[in-house]
Amino acid sequence: MRVLVTGGAGFIGANFVHQTVRERPDVHVTVLDALTYAGDEASLADVADAITFVRGDVADAEVVDRLVADADLVVHFAAESHNDNSLSDPWPFVQTNVIGTFTLLEAVRRHGVRYHHISTDEVYGDLELDDPAKFTDQTPYNPSSPYSSTKASSDLLVRAWVRSFGVQATISNCSNNYGPYQHVEKFIPRQITNLVDGVRPKLYGTGQNVRDWIHVEDHNTAVWAIVERGEIGQTYLIGADGEVDNKTVVETLLELMGQDRDAYDLVSDRPGHDLRYAIDATRLRTELGWRPQYGSFRDGLAATVEWYRANEAWWRPRKDATEAKYATLGR
Ligand code: NAD
Ligand code: TYD
Repeated sequence: MRVLVTGGAGFIGANFVHQTVRERPDVHVTVLDALTYAGDEASLADVADAITFVRGDVADAEVVDRLVADADLVVHFAAESHNDNSLSDPWPFVQTNVIGTFTLLEAVRRHGVRYHHISTDEVYGDLELDDPAKFTDQTPYNPSSPYSSTKASSDLLVRAWVRSFGVQATISNCSNNYGPYQHVEKFIPRQITNLVDGVRPKLYGTGQNVRDWIHVEDHNTAVWAIVERGEIGQTYLIGADGEVDNKTVVETLLELMGQDRDAYDLVSDRPGHDLRYAIDATRLRTELGWRPQYGSFRDGLAATVEWYRANEAWWRPRKDATEAKYATLGR
């Protein structure tokens, strides 16, 4: 099987490529990645000999057509993915997330290639802290930010291409991922690398916002389950019942890294900051038999701390520029 993985030099895509090369010798992986500030070929160094890497843009119809024509399956991870960046400069989000997805859909339509679309639970907006409800595939779309609204747009394009043109596609909407190779702009790696540098972690607002954490390896086993056993045209929510508020995440990191649990700073809040995300992944579990392997968030965090300690050469080149960008936002 020939799989085209877009965004394979990013966080989740690189982990997907590693997992696929490790566990599926019958699959040949081609990565298409533009190597934006978020992409890093070094994330694929361990598997470089086993895959084909193409540097290119998912919105470039020519390169996309050539690669899709040669694939049996496309798994589309490539995106502009960071909410804070989308608030400062939304255009790349529209270009990559909307036009890029459109370009891929037209190519899979032309060549009759199976397509899996990677999306986020943020398309559903947010929940109140005390609301017993969780997101399901019936929850109405209600995105808050330029990031989540462009992801929602791309999901709707996929649904329309399934219905109107018979494209063979599935969609997954996953909650917040953590694990190796995540860019230091994101919450967990930012705080780990701050602590390595002797800088106090920074919590937006009051730190009460809740995210539903899942280890990236569990996200990717779910993606393979959907590709292999999912129903065409369906949307699957991926989550591992990992709701934790941001303050507790930071306190746990401080404890794991040998500091006082209150040694963090509260900084100005993100505009429009979504309060809480929570996923009901019942369909994925009952219909596809998927189970997460990382039972404990604390253990997963401890392993992630160890990974960042052991791989400073990977993250160090991006740390200063990332913090300089946050400094301009006062966060
Ligand atoms: P990331 O920012 O770490 O990686 C994105 C990758 O896409 C990078 O390698 C970048 O170079 C590449 N890219 C960006 N624009 C491109 C373009 N125009 N053409 C080709 N490549 C381009 O993102 P991530 O966290 O790995 O997220 C991957 C996907 O998963 C995204 O679609 C995101 O919406 C979704 N998702 C992420 C999370 C999360 O917690 N990180 C949760 C749910 C869903
Ligand atoms: P983030 O990793 O940006 O993911 P998302 O916005 O997609 O959920 O942020 C996760 C949570 O952490 C979110 O509630 C914002 C918060 N946060 C902080 O409190 N401090 C930080 O330095 C960052 C980057 C995020």
